[in-house]
Amino acid sequence: MSLKNTPRSYGRLARGLHWATALLILTTFPLGWYAEGLPYDSSEALAWKAGVFSLHKTLGIAAFFTGLTRILWALTQVHPVPVNPEYRAANWLAALVHYGLYAALLLVPLAGWVHHAAAEGFAPILWPFGQSLPMVPKSLALADAAGMAHVIATRVLLALLILHIAGAMKHAVIDRDGTLSRMLTGRAAGAPGSKSRGAALAAAVLWGGAAVLTGAAVSYSPTAETPAAPRVQSVAAAEPGAWQVLDGSLKIAVVQMGSRVEGEFASWDAAIRFDPAATEGNEAEVRIALASLKLGAVSDQATGPDFLNAAAFAEARYTARLRPEGENWLAEGELLLNGRSLPLNMSYTLTPEEGVTRMSGRTTIDRRSFGIGENYPDEASVGFVVEVLVDLTAVPATASPETGE
Ligand code: HEM
Ligand code: HEM
Repeated sequence: MSLKNTPRSYGRLARGLHWATALLILTTFPLGWYAEGLPYDSSEALAWKAGVFSLHKTLGIAAFFTGLTRILWALTQVHPVPVNPEYRAANWLAALVHYGLYAALLLVPLAGWVHHAAAEGFAPILWPFGQSLPMVPKSLALADAAGMAHVIATRVLLALLILHIAGAMKHAVIDRDGTLSRMLTGRAAGAPGSKSRGAALAAAVLWGGAAVLTGAAVSYSPTAETPAAPRVQSVAAAEPGAWQVLDGSLKIAVVQMGSRVEGEFASWDAAIRFDPAATEGNEAEVRIALASLKLGAVSDQATGPDFLNAAAFAEARYTARLRPEGENWLAEGELLLNGRSLPLNMSYTLTPEEGVTRMSGRTTIDRRSFGIGENYPDEASVGFVVEVLVDLTAVPATASPETGE
C-alpha cells in the first residue's frame, strides 16, 4: 500500500496523520474542558489542576506540529475525488468542514500557545524548549485576548467536529459507502465529479467571523492593562515636610509551581512626611487596594478568599518610621494585612533624578505569618516568601515637579 494518495485513495501517511491528529484533538479537547472546571482551593487541588493543564498544553502543541506536518504533506498530494460526486451540496459542505478543520489544527493550539507565552506563571508546557514565544511579550491584555480567541476557536472547532463526525457516521451507517473505509483502510473509492468551488473561501469567512467575534469580546472585556498610577494623598501633602508621589509601582513576586510570577497593585497611595535633615518625625503611610492586584494568569485566585481575601479585607496598610541606615534608608514599620498586624522593615535608596527624587526599596514577607494561603501548606504549589518591590518618584509637596524646588 502506497505512502502517497492516489486520485481514489488516501495514502498511508495521510491516513496516519489524520488519525494521529484526530486522537490528539479528541484527547486535548476534553482535557481542556476538564482542567478549566477543576477547583483550586487547596495545594493538592491546585497541583492536580496545573498538572492536567500542563498535559493539555503539551498534547495541544503536539497536535499543532502533527497538524502542520499533515497540512504540508496534503499540499504535496493529489486530493482523492468525492465518493459520491452526485451529492453536490453534501460534498461542498464536507469540503467546507475539511478546510475549516485544517485551519483549526493551527489556529486553536496557536491561540492557546500565545495565551500561555503572554501570561506569567501557572502550568508549564512539559518540554525542554522554554515557555516563551518569539515576538510574544509578557502582557496581560495580550494574554486575555489570546485566551478569549482560544476559547472561541474551540467552539468553532467543536461545531466543525460534530458535523465532520456525524457526516462520517452517516456515510458508514446509512449510505454504507466507502467514505470511512477509505480513510480507515486506504481502500480506493470515488469517481470524478463536481469540484467544491468556494468551500475554502467559505471556511476562511467562517474563521474570519470567529476573529471578529474575538475582537468584539476583547473590546467588551473589563481587563485592560491598567496603568499603575498611585493616588496622591492630599491630607499629608498640606502638612510641613510632606512629599507628593508623582508616579511609581508597587509590585509583588511569588514562586508559583516552581516559576516566579510578578504582579502589580494598580491602586495604592502613599502619605510621606520626610525631611532628610531631621532625625525624628519622618514617616510614611501606604494604603493598598488589594483587589487591584494583577498577578499573571492568577489574579482572581490571588485576590480571592484563599489568599488576599480582598472581599473581607479591602485594604492593606503599612505605617513606618523612616531613618538613615548607612548610605541608604530604612523604613521600620507595621504591616496590617488579612486582619493581622506584624512588624515589617524595608531598606530603600533615594536618588535625585531630574528635579524629582526616586525611591526604590525591596523587602520580603512570609505569607504564612499573615495566615495567607493556609490551604496551601507546601511550597511546591505557592512559595512562602513574597517579594515586595517599591519604586516611586516624589517631590516635596510645595515644589513643582519641573524644578524640584
Ligand atoms: C472520530 C473522529 C473522526 C472520524 C470518524 C473522521 C473521519 C474522516 C473520514 C472518513 C474522512 C474522509 C472523508 C472523505 O474521504 O471525503 C476524513 C477526512 C478528514 N478529516 Fe476526519 N475524522 C475524525 C476526526 C477528525 C479530526 C479530529 C480532525 C481534525 C481536527 C479531522 C480532520 C479531517 C480532515 C481535514 C479531512 C479531509 C482530508 C482531506 O481530504 O484532505 N478529522 N475524516
Ligand atoms: C488542538 C489543541 C487544543 C485544543 C483542542 C484545546 C481545547 C481547549 C478547551 C476545550 C479549553 C476549555 C475552554 C473553555 O473554557 O470552555 C481549553 C482551555 C485552555 N487551553 Fe487549550 N486546547 C488546545 C491547545 C492548547 C495549547 C497548545 C495551549 C497552551 C500552550 C492551551 C492552553 C489552554 C489554556 C491556558 C486554557 C484555559 C483558557 C482560559 O481560561 O482562558 N491549549 N483548551
